Amino acid sequence: MHHDDPAGPPVIITSTNRFGHDQAHPDEVLADPMELLAAWLPANDDELRPLMTLTTIGADGYPDSRSVLLSDHDERGITFHTDARTRKARELAADGRVSIVVAWVEHARQLTIAGDAEQVPAEEAAAVFRARSRYLQLLAWMNSSELAQLPRAERVARWEAFAAAHPEGELDAPPHWVGYRVRPRRLTFWRGDLEGPSNRVEYTRDADDDWTAVRLPG
Ligand SMILES: Cc1cc2nc3c(=O)[nH]c(=O)nc-3n(C[C@H](O)[C@H](O)[C@H](O)COP(=O)(O)O)c2cc1C
Repeated sequence: MHHDDPAGPPVIITSTNRFGHDQAHPDEVLADPMELLAAWLPANDDELRPLMTLTTIGADGYPDSRSVLLSDHDERGITFHTDARTRKARELAADGRVSIVVAWVEHARQLTIAGDAEQVPAEEAAAVFRARSRYLQLLAWMNSSELAQLPRAERVARWEAFAAAHPEGELDAPPHWVGYRVRPRRLTFWRGDLEGPSNRVEYTRDADDDWTAVRLPG
């Protein structure tokens, strides 16, 4: 499904900066910040997904960042999906430590996450694929490095041929489709304030799975 905005081009990546809702009393420290993460994020069944910046550790030791869609979330963590042949997948195989930023600029909110990424079972990843838009399903199938070398006209022709051969609703996840769940060890909630300074609450998980909170300047 395309979400056409008369003022702009059609949205094909289906990302959103929709904000869920905040806790009633932002100064109140929570026993479980995963509940606040769930409140800030849009619902899992919303086709429009939040965009996040995902940083992995490069083979050369440099941080390596890119945007990905946040696929879903639950009490265990958040998931994202990608192609097993990508650099991020190679990096994650070597080192699962990641850093993530989700920013809602219009709402003056930012969530940063440090955690560990682990692959999700294939059937879980396949279910997320089925919920992706037609465009993103085709992209997952057609996003090979071989195709990337071809001139645009040829890439478009191959895309059209593949789409014609695979009607909407019939595509399952390609073999290289892979999902990761990030289990947060640190969650930082940043809030802007029209009437005062911005403020952060940072939660860190300990070995017993309990969370400690500290309040930080913006
Ligand atoms: C709005 C937007 C959404 C994107 N969503 C994803 C995604 O969900 N999964 C993904 O693998 N790449 C996504 N990408 C592409 C990545 O940013 C990146 O170019 C690609 O995954 C290759 O990254 P790597 O070589 O660092 O592994 C998205 C890009 C943009 C701009």
